[in-house]
Amino acid sequence: MRAISYQRPGGPDVLELTDRPVPEPGPGEVRVRLAFSGVNPTDWKSRSNATPGPDGQIPNQDGAGTIEVVGQGVDPVLVGERVWVWEAAYQRPWGTAAECTVVPARQTVLLGAAPSFELGAALGIPFLTAHRCLTVAESLPDRIGPGSLTGRTVLVQGGAGAVGNAAIQLARWADATVVATVSSPDKAQLAAAAGADHVVNYREQDVVAEVRKVAAKGVDAIVEVSAAVNAGIDAQVIGLHGAVAMYADDGGAEVTIPVRAQMMPNARWQFVLVYTEPARAKVLAVEDVNAAVQDGAVRVGREAGLPLHVFPLARTADAHRAVQDGAVGKVLVDVTA
Ligand SMILES: NC(=O)c1ccc[n+]([C@@H]2O[C@H](COP(=O)([O-])OP(=O)(O)OC[C@H]3O[C@@H](n4cnc5c(N)ncnc54)[C@H](OP(=O)(O)O)[C@@H]3O)[C@@H](O)[C@H]2O)c1
Repeated sequence: MRAISYQRPGGPDVLELTDRPVPEPGPGEVRVRLAFSGVNPTDWKSRSNATPGPDGQIPNQDGAGTIEVVGQGVDPVLVGERVWVWEAAYQRPWGTAAECTVVPARQTVLLGAAPSFELGAALGIPFLTAHRCLTVAESLPDRIGPGSLTGRTVLVQGGAGAVGNAAIQLARWADATVVATVSSPDKAQLAAAAGADHVVNYREQDVVAEVRKVAAKGVDAIVEVSAAVNAGIDAQVIGLHGAVAMYADDGGAEVTIPVRAQMMPNARWQFVLVYTEPARAKVLAVEDVNAAVQDGAVRVGREAGLPLHVFPLARTADAHRAVQDGAVGKVLVDVTA
C-alpha cells in the first residue's frame, strides 16, 4: 500500500511516499481502508520532535474510511462499516496518512451511511478536545447533548480555529449561548457560520466589556487557545464555578493568574491534553461527538465556518506545511488521490 512515513524527526521534507505491506490487525484491532486523513498541529509537532521507531512513523492521528478486516476477538459484523478513527498514531506507528491503518477497534466510531468521510476525518483531535473543554467546569454536566447547556454561556477564544470551531458547534448543539473571539472580519464570518451568537474582534473591541454585555455575571466555560495572552481577560469574565480550559501552550509560554480574583468565583483553571484525559471522559466525548454527527449538528466546509483544504496523499508534506503555517479551516489528505 502507499503510505507516507518518516524515519527521523524534522521539517515537512522528512515525509516520504513509501510502498509498504498492508498491515494485519492484531487481537482487538481492525484494519481501516482510509478515504481521508485529517491533519492537526499535533501531527507536525510530533513529526518535528519525536523520534520514530525502527520501522518509521506514519503520521496523522485522525482519519475516516471503511473497516475491511477485523482481528481476533472483534465482531466480524464490523467489516464494511464506515468509521472515523481517533488517535491512530498515538504511541503507535500506524497513522492515517496511508491507504490503510490498523487501530484498536475501540478507536473506530461508526459513521453510518450519510456523514461524509471528510467530516469523519475532521472530528478526532479538535472535537474530542472541544468536548473536554466544555465539560470540565464543576458547574457543568460531563455530557454534551441537546439542552445540556441551556441557560449557560461559553466563551470560545479563537473561534475560527479548528478546536474553536468544534467548540462552537458542540456548544450550540447543546443550546449554550456562545461568544467567540476572532482577529478579522473574515474570521468573524466563519465563527458566526459555525453558530456563535456573538462574535468579538479582539483586535478592535474590548473583549471583557463585550462578554459582560452578554453574560453580566460571567461565563460558565472558556475554551482557551492562548492562555498566556488572554489570562487577564479570562480572569475578569469567568463566572461562579466556571472553568477556563487551556488546551494550547503558545509554544511554551507561561501564564499569570490573579489568585484572589479567581478564588472569589471558585473558578477552575484546567489544563487539557486530549491524549491523557481521563478514560471515562474520553469515552463520553467519543459518544457525544458521534451523537452530534448523527444529529446533523456538526458539519465541515466554509458554510460551517471550517473551510476545507484537501491535498493528495503524495503531497502530505504540503498539508503539514499548511497547518504549520496557520491555514484557516481544516486540512485533509485525500489518501485515494
Ligand atoms: N491540548 C490538546 O489536546 C490540543 C488539541 C488540539 C489542538 N491543540 C493545540 O491548540 C492549538 C490550536 O489548534 P487548532 O487546530 O485549533 O489550530 P488553528 O486551527 O490554527 O486555530 C488556532 C486559532 O487560534 C487563534 N488565536 C491565536 N491567538 C489568539 C488569541 N490570543 N486570542 C484569540 N484567538 C487566538 C487563531 O486566530 P488569530 O491568530 O487570527 O486570532 C486561530 O484561529 C495548537 O497549538 C494545537 O497544537 C491542543
